[in-house]
Amino acid sequence: MHIHILTVLPELLESPFNHSILKRAKDKGLLEISVHHLRRWAVNEYGQVDDYQFGGGAGMVIMCEPLVKAIEELSADKIFDEIIFLTPDGERLSQPIANQLSLRENILMICGHYKGIDQRVRDHFVTREISIGDYVLSGGELAAAVLVDAIGRLLPGVLNDETSALFDSFQDNLLAPPVYTRPEVYRDWKVPEILLSGDHKKINEWRYEEAVKRTQERRPDIIKDE
Ligand code: ADE
Repeated sequence: MHIHILTVLPELLESPFNHSILKRAKDKGLLEISVHHLRRWAVNEYGQVDDYQFGGGAGMVIMCEPLVKAIEELSADKIFDEIIFLTPDGERLSQPIANQLSLRENILMICGHYKGIDQRVRDHFVTREISIGDYVLSGGELAAAVLVDAIGRLLPGVLNDETSALFDSFQDNLLAPPVYTRPEVYRDWKVPEILLSGDHKKINEWRYEEAVKRTQERRPDIIKDE
């Protein structure tokens, strides 16, 4: 998979992809990430990419021209399966959306800034608009980083234990059960006996019950009605 990101703040995306699982995905050649500075397609020698909004009001809007030129240039040798605009008024990111996007080959993500981007780019180029939650960030970069992480870890071969993403919270409309590691007793807090039993059938049942209990308590809204 190749993910391209268009941004006016590429510095914000220097680190998130260079550690841990995403780094491994890149090192293994399973994921390529290209961050493009929108100013490369600026409308003048001052690097202008934004302007005041028609109708008045505070805040600048990213112009059509740099975005369209960037999209067209980046599309010259490939077809983007999705052109995603990160925005608080998009559909809210969920595990099913991450699963779907992890099946794509080429994705372009556009990070908004200031007041956003000219609506005409949304109308004519953007195929999907995604929000990472009901709060407003200063720009789309951190949202893009979240989305890349959510997608990247799902690519086949990225996680060491291929099955482990299957047990993530949300994959079954269930939150993950509690986990424990050594020591068996810390202060006087004991690990549940069942996890030390070696009986994997029982352990799996216990984990499932705990996952259901946790989901009912914390997120009854995600439990599927069969
Ligand atoms: N840009 C600003 N806020 C955002 C959010 N919550 N999700 C996605 N992009 C954003």
